[in-house]
Amino acid sequence: MRLFVAVDLPADVRSELARWARDAVGADDRLRLVRAESLHATLVFLGERPDGEAPGLAGALAAALGDAARAPELRLDGALWLSPRRPHVLTAGLSDPSGGLARIHEALREGLSHDAERRPLRPHVTVARVRGRIRPFEVAAPPAIAFHPPAVTLYRSRLGGGPATYEPLSSVPLSTLP
Ligand code: 2AM
Repeated sequence: MRLFVAVDLPADVRSELARWARDAVGADDRLRLVRAESLHATLVFLGERPDGEAPGLAGALAAALGDAARAPELRLDGALWLSPRRPHVLTAGLSDPSGGLARIHEALREGLSHDAERRPLRPHVTVARVRGRIRPFEVAAPPAIAFHPPAVTLYRSRLGGGPATYEPLSSVPLSTLP
């Protein structure tokens, strides 16, 4: 099964992002919007894994984050095409002023023994996928919202005829207590 670990977004942030994407590129048939319920920020893409590995990965995720992982404050930070010159997706960049998300990312990389991706995290939320090829164009910035992500979740991605669907397999809540 195809697996990835993502940071979840509060429902109101998903709605705001979906609204922004609809206003910005909803009428452009070269792009396909991601549904609000599917919006997330991937931390580690694990790829295709044998079914039997999922429980072990869920345990490793919980162990890597511990009981009291803190929710960093994140901010929506501008429209970002990825890759910038030959984009496959339109995203909202996330800034991580405290570095808390980068620390979570590092803990996951170590805990999940996942070293395929060594580049630094470039946190983002994909809001639309490009059909075919386009040149990037200017897009209005998303609303400047700050928020605390509620959880980190191991997802199964199901690809099919239509848009991918993401099934949560195991979640670790993030603490917002002072
Ligand atoms: P994206 O949002 O930047 O497109 C489920 O497919 C999630 O895993 C998506 O968030 C996607 O990132 C990410 N993903 C898919 N394929 C990937 C790959 N080959 N490398 C890294 N991330 C990938």
